[in-house]
Order: sequence, then structure tokens, then C-alpha cells
Amino acid sequence: MSQSILIRGGRVIDPSQEIDEVLDVRITGGAIAAIGKAAQGDADETIEAGGRLVVPGLIDMHVHLREPGFEDKETIESGTAAAVAGGFSAVACMPNTEPPLHSDAQIEFVLRQAERVAHCRVYPIGAITKDRAGRELAEIGLMVRAGAVALSDDGAGIADAGVCLRAMRYVAQFGRLFVQHCEEPSLSGGVMNAGVTATRLGLPGMPAIAEVVMAQRDITLARAAGVRYHVAHVSSAQTVELVRRAKAEGANVTAEVCPHHLLLTEECCAAYDTNYKMSPPLRTQADVEACRAGVADGTIDCLVTDHAPHTHSEKELGFLDAPFGIVGLETALGLFIRALVEPGLIGWPELIRAMSTRPAQLLGVAGGTLRPGSPADVTIIDPEAEWRVDAERMRSRGRNTPFDGWTLRGRAEATIVGGVVRYRATEA
Ligand code: DOR
Repeated sequence: MSQSILIRGGRVIDPSQEIDEVLDVRITGGAIAAIGKAAQGDADETIEAGGRLVVPGLIDMHVHLREPGFEDKETIESGTAAAVAGGFSAVACMPNTEPPLHSDAQIEFVLRQAERVAHCRVYPIGAITKDRAGRELAEIGLMVRAGAVALSDDGAGIADAGVCLRAMRYVAQFGRLFVQHCEEPSLSGGVMNAGVTATRLGLPGMPAIAEVVMAQRDITLARAAGVRYHVAHVSSAQTVELVRRAKAEGANVTAEVCPHHLLLTEECCAAYDTNYKMSPPLRTQADVEACRAGVADGTIDCLVTDHAPHTHSEKELGFLDAPFGIVGLETALGLFIRALVEPGLIGWPELIRAMSTRPAQLLGVAGGTLRPGSPADVTIIDPEAEWRVDAERMRSRGRNTPFDGWTLRGRAEATIVGGVVRYRATEA
């Protein structure tokens, strides 16, 4: 039940209105009613937010919820429980399920299931090609009509340039975002970054140029197609530079980065721990620095998790055979603070812009703002809270994180979705 809530005395940061000051926020009927000192008055619940940040609900536009088909890894229920615990009021979920989200029926399934069990908003991303096989276009129009907010074959890039251009032209007609997992398969196929560490470990490599070559090709194709083009999980310095240059030339290109590519390097794979195996792979310190610089100068628009839960037994396999991916929803906020805010590369408003306002804009969904009248999706952050990552206590079904045991500063204290408090740290 949505109540009236008064959030009092917090540092309100709303990049959509350029607000950064101590104010009150009043919520009624599931919407933001008022913001400012005028927000005083009676409410069903008053949340004292002194010393806290009050921000538009965080939005993670790159999440794997695994349902339908891989409910042993995650469900819409468990994944969104993890999301609200991480401060996210909305997630966009990728289509590499079984069956894949490649027709309107699957998009409808996700939306219906989310309505029943989700703790936050769920925005499905439809596949670009049937079975995500990169050959035939999927039912893009029907999926958009059913509610797909973007299109992507994430997990793989579309290798065939002709198919890719056709898909881009089609997606452009609907004005949706075209999200590419940039990896040219003929140049890739290994299990970790190609380089001296892979050679020393005797593991096959995934070179950065596989990412760069597809991103470069795509930027050319996207300009021809007139589509809004988004590079998923950027991992290499050259890709950052490519996006920077494309933006300077006026291309309609955006990009995102994950916490692990801002904090870890290929050397973490030295003990063959599969919690360091993800796609794209961890790269070099120079790549980490370049990704951080890309966020700092706005080349990289969004901060995402690529939350990719897998079962314990799958991740227990050897480095060659274990699946790619790590969970991220419950650690992202603290990790982005560690990587970007603590070293002074960006301030809080820039962090919130990249974790909420920009994703809402790119997906064309509600949220990302505390403007009166908009849905009351609000995250309250305690910027000083020190806490220890404990994989065993996560709400996600996945425990596959390389950050287990890390001490982080800053966490979500409450997550409000549509005027309803869906998470409080005190209940954790
Ligand atoms: O590490 C990854 N895991 N990268 C991807 O692109 C896919 C994801 C998954 O679905 O597990």
C-alpha cells in the first residue's frame, strides 16, 4: 500500500533538476508530491534523512534475471530482491534466457511475472536476432509493442555486418536503444584477456581488439542507420577512446561500464578463481585507468552491473569450462563509490546521474528524477556506512562475486518504489 511519506532533512541530489541541497521530499499516492522546505507537514511515515543522500531510485540497465529457463541461477523474485537491497528501484533484464526473450510472448511473460513477484520495476530488453544466433531478425516490432525498452543480443555480438545494419535500421524505426555486446568472434573465443598473464597461465585469450573492432564497425553502421547505439560493458582503453571520438563527431553513441572493469585486472585470474571470469574479461591497469577517465569526462554515460548469477557447481568448474559472469546488484553502489567517488574522479551528482538519470533517459522509462508528479522511486544512501561484503548473506541466488570480504563505504539505507518502501537496511 502506498502511503504518504516525508523524507526529512537529507541531502537531495537530483541531476535531472540540478538539485544538490538539504531539502525535504514528500511522497503521496505513489508519486513525488513536493520537494523543498514546502514539503513539511503530516505524513503516514516520516523518515529522518539527516546525513543521508536522497536520490532518484537507482536504475541498472544491464542485468541477467535468468527467468525463464535458468531459475536455479536466479528468478525475477530473487534478482529484484537483490536489486532493492543494492538501492535499485528498476532493472533492465537481458534476453539470454531459455527461451530467449525474442518474441512478444516472452516479453509479456517477464512483465506479467514481474507484476506478480518483483520487488522493483523490471524492464525487459528484447533479443535482436532469433535465438540470439545473429542470423535472422527477431520480432522486434512486436516486442517493442509488448514493452521491450531496448534491443540486444547480449552475451554475444552480432558478427554479420549485413544483419547488424538491417537490425539497426529496424530498431531505429522504433526509436529504441540498440545495445551491443562488442566482441568480434573471429578474433576472440578465449576465457580471459589475451596477454602475458593468459600466456603464463596457459589459458586462451580474448583480445581487447575483438571489442574495439566491433565497436568501430558498429559506430559506422549506426550512423548510417540513424539508430541510438549503446556499447555494453566497455572494458578497454581503445574502446573508451573510440566512443570519445565518436561523440566529439556528433555520433549518437553512448556507453556503460561495470564495477569490475574499474577495480580489477587480468592478474586477478592468476589463481584460476572463476569468480574473476567474465565477458568482457578483466584487462590491464591501463584499461582500468582509461575506463575510470571515461566516466570522469562523461564519455561513459552509465554505470551498470552486468549482474550475472550462476550456480555454485557451475562456477566450481575449471577456468576453461565455468560460465562467464559475476553477481553485482548488491555490491555495485559501494564499488562505484570506491572506484570513482573516493578517488575524487567524480562527485555524488555525477554518480547519481550515471546510475539513475542517464539510464532512464536512454531506455525512455520513468524515473531518474525527483520532479514533482513523477513516480516516487527514491533511494536513500548512507554515504558513511562501512560494511563488509558477505556473499553468503546475499539475496541473489548467485554467490559468484570476487568482492566477497571487501569492506566498502556507502550503501543503500532504503529503496522506495512507487511510493512503497521495498527495502530498509535495518531489515537486512
Ligand atoms: O560475464 C558475462 N555473463 N557476460 C555476458 O555477456 C553474459 C553474462 C551471462 O549471461 O552470464
